[in-house]
This record gives sequence, C-alpha cells and structure tokens, in this order.
Amino acid sequence: MVGAIFSQSLTAAALLLGQATAYNKRYIDNSTGTPQVVIPGASSYNGLNLVPQMGWNNWNAFHCNVNETLLLSTAQNMVDLGLRDLGYNYIVMDDCWSIGRNSSGYLVENPVKFPNGIKDITDKIHALGMKFGMYSSAGVFTCGRYPGSLGFETQDADLWASWGVDYLKYDNCFNQGQSGTPKLSFDRYNVMSKALNATGRDIVYSMCNWGNDDPYDWAYTIANSGRMSGDIYDSFNRPDDRCPCTEAVGCAWPGFHCSVMNILNKMPAIQSRTMSGYFNDMDMLEIGNGGQSDSEYVVHFTMWAMNSSPLLIGTNIGTLSPANLAIYSNPAIIALNQDKSAGAAVRKWRYVVDPDETGQGEISLWTRSMANGDTVIALLNAANTTMMMNATMNDIFFDQRTAGAYQAPPQLSQTWDVYDLWANRMTEEEAAAVINGTSTLSENSTSRYNATATSYIEGIAANNTALMGVKVGSIAPSGTFSAEIARHSVGIYRLRSQGKASPRKRDEL
Ligand code: GAL
Repeated sequence: MVGAIFSQSLTAAALLLGQATAYNKRYIDNSTGTPQVVIPGASSYNGLNLVPQMGWNNWNAFHCNVNETLLLSTAQNMVDLGLRDLGYNYIVMDDCWSIGRNSSGYLVENPVKFPNGIKDITDKIHALGMKFGMYSSAGVFTCGRYPGSLGFETQDADLWASWGVDYLKYDNCFNQGQSGTPKLSFDRYNVMSKALNATGRDIVYSMCNWGNDDPYDWAYTIANSGRMSGDIYDSFNRPDDRCPCTEAVGCAWPGFHCSVMNILNKMPAIQSRTMSGYFNDMDMLEIGNGGQSDSEYVVHFTMWAMNSSPLLIGTNIGTLSPANLAIYSNPAIIALNQDKSAGAAVRKWRYVVDPDETGQGEISLWTRSMANGDTVIALLNAANTTMMMNATMNDIFFDQRTAGAYQAPPQLSQTWDVYDLWANRMTEEEAAAVINGTSTLSENSTSRYNATATSYIEGIAANNTALMGVKVGSIAPSGTFSAEIARHSVGIYRLRSQGKASPRKRDEL
C-alpha cells in the first residue's frame, strides 16, 4: 500500500516535471535526460530567486529622475561600499525611462537620460559584477504615463533580453480593466511571464500589482516575487487615508503612503505564501530617506529581512550616512533574509498598547525557523515607551506541537543559546571609514561579510561569526527570555539549541 502511494506520487511528480520541461530547462538534468529536481523543495517557476532578490532601485529617492549617471555611479558606489558583496547585486531602474515606441513597435529609451543607450549601461553594470533590472507595466501606460507593455509583451521581453537585462519589475497601472479577479490578473501577468521565459535568458520576474487580486495565492507559478501592499512611504507607523487597508487579504484598494508598520502587519495572514522562488515583496527600503529615526529604520530593515522580503535599497547611495550604511550592512540580519528556509515569520502574539502621537502603539513577538534548526525571535516594541518584553519557551515553540497529538515539542526540553543579531552593528566610525575609503576592516570582521565569495548558506553552515551576532545568554527548558526594548525598536535573536535533550517519558511531558 505504501509502495503504491509512493509510486503514484512519483508518477505525479514525473508528470509535473514533464510539464516543467516546457517551462524551464533548469529543473531538468540535461546531461542524463532524466527529470530531476535540481534544488529539492524549490518552487521557483523558472529556477531563479531561490532566496529573496537584493539590490537597489531608484524610485523611493529619485522617482522619475533616473539617468545613466545615476545608475552607473550608484553601481560603482555599491561596489566600493561593500554592498555588492553583501549581496545587493541588482541595480533596478524604475519608471520614466522611455520616450515611446519606434515605427517597428520597439520601445525607445530617452536619449537625454541615456545618451549611450541602455545596453551600454547593462554591459557596464555586468562588468562590475552586478545585474540590471528594467521596469514596465502590465498596462497600456506605466504609472508615470510612459508606454506600457500590454499587447507588446513578446517584443518588449525580446528587446530587454537583447540588452542583457536580468530582472523585470512589472507594474499594474493602466491595465484596461483587466483586473478585479485573480484570473484576470493571472492571465495578464502570465503573458509577460511566458514572454520572458521564451527569451531563454535568466530574467527574475518581479510583479508589482500591490497585492491586487491576491497574487500571493497564484503568482508563485508565474513569477519570482509579488508586491503584497500599496506603495510604502517613509513613515514608521503614521496612518494615511491613501492606504486604507490594514489587511492584505481582501483589500479593495491598496493605495499608497503605507507605513512600515502597516505593511508589516499585513504579512501574518499571508505568511504561508512566502516560499523559495516566490517572495512577498514588502516594497523597497526607505532607510536613508530621512522620515524615520535610527531605531525605526532598524525595525524596518530587520522585519523585512525576517519576512524574506526582497531587500531593495531605496535611497541615494552617494549620500548614504554612516548610520544608514551600518543598517544596510549588518550581515547577521541579511543572513536571515538569505536563509534557504525562504519563509516568512510567524507573529506569535500582538498587543495593542501605549499609543504614540499617531494613535498607534503595539508590541509583538515574531518567530521564524531557520533551515539549520536555529530559531529566530524578534521582540518588537512599536509602543510609545520602553518595555521589558518577555518571550516564554512556550510562546516561541508552541506551534511546533505534533498535530493532533498535542505533545510538547522537543524544542521545549532543550536549552537554547541566544545571539543578539544587532550586537555587532558597525560603529559610526567604522562606517565613516568605509564611506571615506579608509577602512581597514577585513572580511573576517564581525561587521563585514563577502557573500560574493561565500554564500550566506555556506557562512551559516560554517558558523561565520559575522553572521551570528553576539551570545547574550541562554534559555533553559521552560524558561523565558526577557529584554528591555526601547520605544520603536526591535530586539532580534538567533536561538541555537545546545543539543537534543534525552527523550522524556510520557508522564513527564
Ligand atoms: C507604482 C509602484 C512604485 C513605482 C511607481 C512608478 O505603481 O508601486 O514602486 O514603481 O509605480 O511609477
């Protein structure tokens, strides 16, 4: 019986893989011709983006003011500041880059903004060891009223592939009413998905339809990430009528001017729909744009990383302050984001308390299981005053109970070492030296990491100290972890088991 089920599922898997052949060569081992899942558990429709994409996008800081100089100087600055080697390797150009279509129907780049053409930019970015991202809309116009790609999908995908483009951010404006149900949106976005795939070039497909028609339910079969909210704005928690929804699911109008806390609190309902190859995109990072305090920006970065959001820096790299560089450069936080578990965090509890001047105040505990068995906990204080916050072992692990049997999970009988993941934050002096080009930090520094040389997955496996933070204590079985967390701050800790406890008898459970 077991054998029958096993062989049935193998047949089903083979059929699925057969379909995948048409979709993507990378699922198949061509050397043997045998269908084989190259990365077990990967759900990526095209084999790309098994961990969230990282990079930079001009929109949050520059809006339509994009040009060749900005893109190339940013790429060079990212190399010089070590950001490329921390993993930020996509330079993504946003809206307002074209002037129309030529008589053959091909998009034409603005010759004033891009005097040497976009292919030239792509080549130069590749020469720096980085990748290049393009922007368009699944509509007749982009949101900035430049030509969109609806009806021109194949032609546009072919053009971008000929330019060497590695990434497409695909927006939702002017979609001619082809939205309003998941099927309408799926069909429209799928045309571009197929066109990109047909180019034969590896192009990460980043959907930007703001959570419209619940993309987290269907887009993993056609794309590599999908925005799950209206546009972010540089505010920690200020409510805004232009961002009316507090939940992702069933949001009739995603809008814009969504705060960090608004977007974050939309994630728990769709936590299970984040997976390797398809990430819920919480929008581009605002760190450096001036609207939030240092600790608020730390919350923003930490919770985006914790939820496997794409990490796209959204500020002017040329004027990045030491404090903001230190936030973007914490490898212990980036390692969470780049963990091959590729999941989002679970919000274990949330209490609405102690409001600030915006009328908002809350505290919450978030946890996430890492691929190597570590557990990460985030104690988030979004209330108005410092709080002593507690996480009991039961809070942290109760969702690991054996389904149906209600047995205590084995994690509860283990002792866990606790590592503070912000304890090695680069000092202002160190960060200033990196910016000035006078840094003497080596790659073995606890505040630097070279992911180009050694992936985060390998680094974690080797217990690289830059990825582990600083050990601040341990939690005994049935214990409680407590930390004082300042207003609008987060404490984030990687928990590592000291080893399996000996199994307890049933009456001890
Ligand atoms: C919005 C999108 C933004 C930005 C903008 C460009 O729809 O969410 O991230 O791309 O369009 O016009």
